[in-house]
Amino acid sequence: MGAIYEHLVRPVLFKGDAEHAHERAIAWLRLLGRVKPLVKGMEWYNSPRHAEPIELFGLTFPNAVGLAAGFDKNALCWQVMGALGFGHVEIGTVTSQEQPGNQRQRLFRLPEHEALINRMGFPNDGADAIAKRLGKHKRGRGIPVGVNIGKSKVTPLDQAAPEYIDIFNKLADGADFFTINVSSPNTPELRRLQEKDFLRQLLGELNRNNAERARKLGKERIPLLVKIAPDLSYRDIDDVLTVVQDVGLDGIVATNTMLERPIELGDKDETGGLSGRPILPKARQIVHYIHLATGGKLPIIGVGGIVDERSAGEMFDAGASLVQVYTGMVYRGPFFAREVAQSLVWRYAEWV
Ligand SMILES: Cc1cc2nc3c(=O)[nH]c(=O)nc-3n(C[C@H](O)[C@H](O)[C@H](O)COP(=O)(O)O)c2cc1C
Repeated sequence: MGAIYEHLVRPVLFKGDAEHAHERAIAWLRLLGRVKPLVKGMEWYNSPRHAEPIELFGLTFPNAVGLAAGFDKNALCWQVMGALGFGHVEIGTVTSQEQPGNQRQRLFRLPEHEALINRMGFPNDGADAIAKRLGKHKRGRGIPVGVNIGKSKVTPLDQAAPEYIDIFNKLADGADFFTINVSSPNTPELRRLQEKDFLRQLLGELNRNNAERARKLGKERIPLLVKIAPDLSYRDIDDVLTVVQDVGLDGIVATNTMLERPIELGDKDETGGLSGRPILPKARQIVHYIHLATGGKLPIIGVGGIVDERSAGEMFDAGASLVQVYTGMVYRGPFFAREVAQSLVWRYAEWV
């Protein structure tokens, strides 16, 4: 299947603008979503054989591979991603109000590096519209749905915490877990929220709000994860881990897109965050560092540069509990998640 995509479909898709291709993919997936029996059949056919469910922060993941944030920003096709073999999806980044994002063209392919550069700037329909689409997604039915939330372009840093709480409250009924995004490079000052004091305030307030909501409703609190940038130094990561542990967060998503440009890219450049193969070494090192620093106790979702089965295995060996993919699917096709999930089952099955 991958070969058909790479030799027949991809050359046609790659002739046009990258964001148009993305929009077309979303439209096709929405169409697929209307044919419920087909979705059900594909879910069965594309789920990896002999996969043991993974239990993490109180949720059950049918397999180890999730869709990274940014693909289904507006919660338009999350219901069908299980049919492609995904074991969870992360929608968003969702901001409080609808915003258009940066001017187009803002997504660029680097095919010879199996990479993308984007400076999207969180275009999305806003928390109210997206909450409606998610509805009261029932926890425990279908694949887990994570909601990735971030600050609007215009919001000053000292107003960020109330805004994140507002988005959290609007989307909580439809979310299995939340990812607190403090690491996308295309929203002014967002990454400063990774600094110790800002982060402590933000995560502390979110977590208190989460616990309070759960108490009032007599429900479990919703797992909260924080997503970090690959450009952090190890000292910065130590600060993040201190806060994560003090606050009692449930896990970490490592990593977002990268501002640094590895030497092999040469003069191929655009402003924005780099994803795909060139960021694997950095993302994997960070996952490994966090794994060692936390004695393997903090759940880590490893994301960044998984473009084949081998890179997914490396991310797992580094200490990831789950992985997510985005750019790899652009280069390998719609069934990339199923291929990776199956390869991880073979790699780690005790009876092989
Ligand atoms: C076009 C594009 C848009 C993205 N948008 C978001 C986003 O809104 N929020 C977020 O947390 N990450 C976003 N990401 C980052 C991905 O979720 C992921 O962390 C990153 O691309 C590294 O994984 P990959 O190499 O598998 O693509 C985006 C990535 C791409 C390529």
